[in-house]
Amino acid sequence: MAQRSCQAIIIAAGHGTRMKSQKPKVLHKIAGLSMVGHVARNAQKAGVDHVSVVIGPDMDIVHKEAASMHPAVTAHVQTERLGTGHAVLAARSDLIDAKDDVIVLFGDTPLLRPETLTAMREKLAEGNDVVVLGFYSNEPDPYGRLLEENGNLIAIREAKDCTPEEFKVNFCNGGIMGFSGPKLLDLLGAIDNNNAQGEYYLTDTVEIAIQQGLKVTAIEAPEAELQGVNNRQHLAKVESTFQSQARAEAMTNGATLIAPETVFFAYDTELGQDVIIEPNVFFAPGVKISDNVEIRANSYLESATVAEGCVVGPYARLRPGAIIDKGAKIGNFVEIKKAHIEEGAKVNHLSYIGDARVGAKANIGAGTITCNYDGFDKFKTDIGAGAFIGSNTALVAPASIGDGAIIGAGSVITKPVGKDDLAVTRSKTFVKVGWAALFREKKKKKK
Ligand code: UD1
Ligand code: MG
Repeated sequence: MAQRSCQAIIIAAGHGTRMKSQKPKVLHKIAGLSMVGHVARNAQKAGVDHVSVVIGPDMDIVHKEAASMHPAVTAHVQTERLGTGHAVLAARSDLIDAKDDVIVLFGDTPLLRPETLTAMREKLAEGNDVVVLGFYSNEPDPYGRLLEENGNLIAIREAKDCTPEEFKVNFCNGGIMGFSGPKLLDLLGAIDNNNAQGEYYLTDTVEIAIQQGLKVTAIEAPEAELQGVNNRQHLAKVESTFQSQARAEAMTNGATLIAPETVFFAYDTELGQDVIIEPNVFFAPGVKISDNVEIRANSYLESATVAEGCVVGPYARLRPGAIIDKGAKIGNFVEIKKAHIEEGAKVNHLSYIGDARVGAKANIGAGTITCNYDGFDKFKTDIGAGAFIGSNTALVAPASIGDGAIIGAGSVITKPVGKDDLAVTRSKTFVKVGWAALFREKKKKKK
């Protein structure tokens, strides 16, 4: 199959009024990635060579979003929304030379798996001219119905155009269709808008193809994969389907989730083996976790890389650019941003480490803050290997602490500190023996 080329047309021109949103529907996110991003990404995973995205006027941002997930994306504007068949025709210039497989995808149906696209392509490779993706549903009401005769697909009927008999059919159209490229423009050209909605239905290509003596077939996919999003309730439902699948996959691949339903993954979260995830952990995009890491309860991780054997949390926040090397410990109420925490270093309590390097085996005391921002610019802090930073230290960046240096608790460091040096910036402790007791006695006498 590798030698067959494949193009995908993602139709996404509808604004999605029922989302009640200022942005196009397909930009709403599932697991941290826009719906159109999911569709383009899955197309890429299924080996689609080129993607044409059909957008409404002023939706260039939808093009950019698709292009962030697939290397070859062109955009086409459908100025008037006259139906799914009309939408595909907007990409006519990309279809003229279509040689092999063309798959029409919906921008608002993000859970379609690459494996299912591949199965559709296999059917095209077997010599079918039109391949329809169907699913069985207990609630078929809004969907087009796949009508069969002697087990062969003969038509797709939109719900609004169904006879009462046809309406009872529960084999539904998922919307996604595959075509033999050289036949597609002819089929699209023959569609009319003589139906209940006055639209040019892509689904009419089935009957037209049969009239032309072409080969048409339907394959089945799970309903969950074909859930489309029209409103925020659907968005939440699709998110929940995604999360259940991601949790199951994480466990299948060897991670322990103590309370799976409380852990939320991003579309691209990577987990090693024997990772233990405690309850209420949220992964935003861009997180990579290696083997034998423990993510303790109530932690939030985003664009962070955690190496083997680390412990993160409870209540930790890893922000973009956090790189945690082997065996390091990030404890409670610690925030790490754009910082490299080297092997075996410990930042165990109540700290902010941003724009920094913490050398191997350094120990960062409770309440240490890297003061990285002066209101205009950001500055770096460099802490050497084996350094010991006493509790409640403010490191005013740019700051440099040499290997093995010790900083006394409560210091505000504004100068470089050399290797193995001690720096303390606190006033001397003053003790008056017995003063507290005398003070209390005096006060009591006065009453
Ligand atoms: C479509 C199918 C229906 C199927 C259902 C599955 C047709 C005629 N009907 O119906 O059989 O059961 O999907 O969810 O294909 N779009 C455009 N331009 C248009 C019209 C639509 O870009 O002019 C895009 C929308 O943005 C959306 C997709 O096409 O991403 C589907 O359109 P929608 O109106 O939701 O089709 P359905 O009525 O759900
Ligand atoms: Mg729809």
